[in-house]
Amino acid sequence: MTRIKNTLFFIFILFYSLNAYSEQTVEEIIKERKSIFSKNYKTAKRVQGLASNGDIDEAKKLMIEMSDNYKRLIDLFPENSKVGFKTEVLPSIWENKDEFNLLMTKASSNMIELTSVIEGADDMKATLGKYMWSSCKSCHSKFRAEH
Ligand code: HEC
Repeated sequence: MTRIKNTLFFIFILFYSLNAYSEQTVEEIIKERKSIFSKNYKTAKRVQGLASNGDIDEAKKLMIEMSDNYKRLIDLFPENSKVGFKTEVLPSIWENKDEFNLLMTKASSNMIELTSVIEGADDMKATLGKYMWSSCKSCHSKFRAEH
């Protein structure tokens, strides 16, 4: 009898802690990805400002930062993070995970490519559009809800 009680108690504690753990993790994951996207938006505007002022070296550092952030983002869309905590994701992410991950990887590698093409760019605005801003739109149009 004691044994059954102990077993039940153990199972109860196990489920309770697993549940608390996963709940917290989902919240943390969603918050982290939102904050990285917000940060990337601010950084992208700074890249634009710095590059327009000819401060290419400083702009390049931020491009690399953005590239790294995209790499981190790939891990922040697990199956259990589709809803809650004011997320604006669309279910299409999980229906097209390969395409989504590819867009994220492409956004990351475009920022690295930008560090080299920015030097001799004739049209700064068009170059930033092509290698930085177009990534946002191509992903949001399919994978982020209207907001
Ligand atoms: C490969 C896909 C992808 C790329 C590339 C991408 N985004 Fe997003 N973005 C998303 C998704 C998905 C969300 C919704 C995340 C959520 O709400 O959980 C989002 C959310 C955001 C948010 C809202 C964050 C918040 O606090 O809710 C901002 C701002 C944003 N993105 C800006 C950008 C900008 C600027 C770029 C380009 C420089 C960019 N994103 C590139 C997919 C992408």
